[in-house]
Amino acid sequence: MQHILHIDASYSGERSISRVLSHDFITAWKKLHPEAAVLYRDLGHFPVPYINEAWIAATHSSPEILTPEMIAALEVSNPLLEEFLLVDGYVFGVPMYGFTIPATLKAYFEHLIRLGQTYSGHESRG
Ligand SMILES: Cc1cc2nc3c(=O)[nH]c(=O)nc-3n(C[C@H](O)[C@H](O)[C@H](O)COP(=O)(O)O)c2cc1C
Repeated sequence: MQHILHIDASYSGERSISRVLSHDFITAWKKLHPEAAVLYRDLGHFPVPYINEAWIAATHSSPEILTPEMIAALEVSNPLLEEFLLVDGYVFGVPMYGFTIPATLKAYFEHLIRLGQTYSGHESRG
């Protein structure tokens, strides 16, 4: 079964255009793929916390040396990563704020920066 992750990032609710567009796309897509499962995440209204020093230390350390603070950081972050890796496709409803993406979406993407899981470490080296 296909899994799609649908993410909205607008801070607006009923007035949001990007939410209407992403929901319309999902509605049309589900008609073509009624068996598919759609997971939904509303980053505009339910932002994820920023990653922090404990998160950086945790994601660069062996499990046996994790402190309670580092474990707590991973307990927030790991489900986001697992959900991201579980699905087969993504639909993003994203407004432009200040010539870039909303801060809440950037904060979410930072949780997904995991060596060996979402990048190999070779891509950006010349
Ligand atoms: C805080 C803020 C910053 C924005 N910055 C830009 C921008 O840099 N460039 C642009 O073309 N539109 C900008 N816009 C317009 C939004 O991209 C536009 O209103 C869009 O429809 C917002 O998405 P939403 O309707 O899903 O909330 C901005 C709007 C807001 C509220």
